[in-house]
Amino acid sequence: MRVDFNVPIKNGRIMDDTRIRESIPTIADLVERSARVILMTHLGRPDGQVDDAYRTRPLANRLAELVSRPVTHVNDCVGPPVEAVVKAMRDGDIVMLENVRFHPGETKNDPAFARQLAALGDVYVNDAFGTAHRAHASTAGIAQYLPAVAGLLMEREITTLGRIMTDPPHPLVAIIGGSKISTKIGVLRSLLQRVDRLCLGGAMACTLLKAKGLNVGRSLVEDDQLEVARSLLASSGQGGGTLVLPLDAVVAPEAIPGVATRTVAVDAVPSDMKVLDVGPMTVERFLQTCDGAAAVVWNGPLGVYEVPPFDRGTDALARGLAGSDAETIIGGGDLVAALQKQHLAERMSFVSTGGGATLEFLEGKTLPGIAALRDKNHA
Ligand code: ADP
Ligand code: 3PG
Ligand code: MG
Repeated sequence: MRVDFNVPIKNGRIMDDTRIRESIPTIADLVERSARVILMTHLGRPDGQVDDAYRTRPLANRLAELVSRPVTHVNDCVGPPVEAVVKAMRDGDIVMLENVRFHPGETKNDPAFARQLAALGDVYVNDAFGTAHRAHASTAGIAQYLPAVAGLLMEREITTLGRIMTDPPHPLVAIIGGSKISTKIGVLRSLLQRVDRLCLGGAMACTLLKAKGLNVGRSLVEDDQLEVARSLLASSGQGGGTLVLPLDAVVAPEAIPGVATRTVAVDAVPSDMKVLDVGPMTVERFLQTCDGAAAVVWNGPLGVYEVPPFDRGTDALARGLAGSDAETIIGGGDLVAALQKQHLAERMSFVSTGGGATLEFLEGKTLPGIAALRDKNHA
């Protein structure tokens, strides 16, 4: 079973175990059915080398705590010592392999490495939605050599996000924030075709405001994306959804704790200031836009949430959405971290475990980890 236990770790401590917890339904179901469960994951980007900082033992230990069962950790993911441990497993046992990215064959999707992994088991279960955008040996190649199926988390992600793509409920509103329009233009274009309204916040809104001719001071702007921003503005309401831009902004000279801030209208940003968050009128406008929506898809924070008080816009919007009747679908690494900080993530209908994978899915791209399962089932 491939899981995505690529969780944030600081000084050996797991900072957020959501991805581990989200994989438990599939693991528990397999154990219940007396399967012998061999788990594989990557952690970080060790680049084909053994790196002690990226060993999976802490992940195995955390899983053991969460499922109240032993989870045996082995120091490699292929080869005779691993095969011996697997051979000694009993029904319902759980073994966690070492980081698959310690082998260069993983990210190269090397068939020989995929075959070695496949040799350990009888059935391949992929529950690693967060890594489904990578065509690697443990996410794609391995499916060539074993019966291959999706796990319950994978299924839930595909069902929830897939409905937005193929059968969107209406009225549908998207909210997109974050830093760079260049990393999200694919998602913006894809969602604009499917939604009724698309609210824009974060630094990327500054690029749009500048493209409209407004002065955004010293804000983070991608000047090489102004043309892209203009074409996006031009496509608003042309057969798809309409764009909703910020009305006001919280500005300061820098994003540092304790700095003096001001809230100004978007056409009155002082030249020596940076836009670091949306203002309260914008939050109100976005919430009004979501009023009566069947579903809201939100990716990316509205401000520099890492540095209070520039987390206020994101928090206020989340609080408003938590109390709404709309189905709330949240994606993206930074936004999820922002909501978790305020214990607001659990008040949303669905929080995707993917970062890049969620964005690529919503762009309409084919994810290799999903395609490998599909090919298999149609074979
Ligand atoms: P996600 O991971 O949720 O998809 P992104 O990675 O696109 O989001 O963007 C998150 C980053 O955007 C955060 O580090 C945040 O500080 C930054 N950001 C948001 N608004 C602004 C802003 N106005 N100015 C500078 N950075 C911003
Ligand atoms: C993620 O955290 O987005 C996934 O685990 C994929 O990790 P990667 O970007 O190192 O491939
Ligand atoms: Mg991010």
